Amino acid sequence: MTFAATRFVFLAVALASLGACVGPRAPEPSPASIVEDGRAIAEAQCARCHAVGAYGDSPRPDAPPLRMILSSYRADVLEEELDNGIKLGHPDMPRFQLNPQGVSALVAYLKSIQTPPAATEKAGQ
Ligand code: HEC
Repeated sequence: MTFAATRFVFLAVALASLGACVGPRAPEPSPASIVEDGRAIAEAQCARCHAVGAYGDSPRPDAPPLRMILSSYRADVLEEELDNGIKLGHPDMPRFQLNPQGVSALVAYLKSIQTPPAATEKAGQ
């Protein structure tokens, strides 16, 4: 084997192991992990007043459970309001400042828990 060929093989092996090290990684988080993030946000920021799960009553009786929210709010409107940090039209709610990823995660989670599920909406995602 010539020197040049040896060097080529070495380089190829080095590149291959570099590739293995980085591994197969999805460029975007999968939908399931987005929903998980959204659930974490809801638990951290909304659960104090709203029921955030698939069942149960809200800690604050006047706060509707989040699984009902999308029956009175369109998901895109809600997303936009949260994006803008708007107070969603009620007095006691704290002002959220979520980043856009946080807002889409939260809305993805909300979609996932609606009763009845916002079925047809999902196709557009
Ligand atoms: C400090 C208590 C509190 C927290 C925390 C809170 N909310 Fe609320 N939220 C309320 C109350 C009370 C209402 C009902 C107010 C009303 O109807 O005037 C409400 C209503 C809403 C509504 C409007 C529902 C409708 O049908 O008009 C949305 C949407 C909403 N909350 C989303 C959220 C989200 C998302 C979070 C977390 C990021 C959150 N809230 C955190 C107290 C809270």
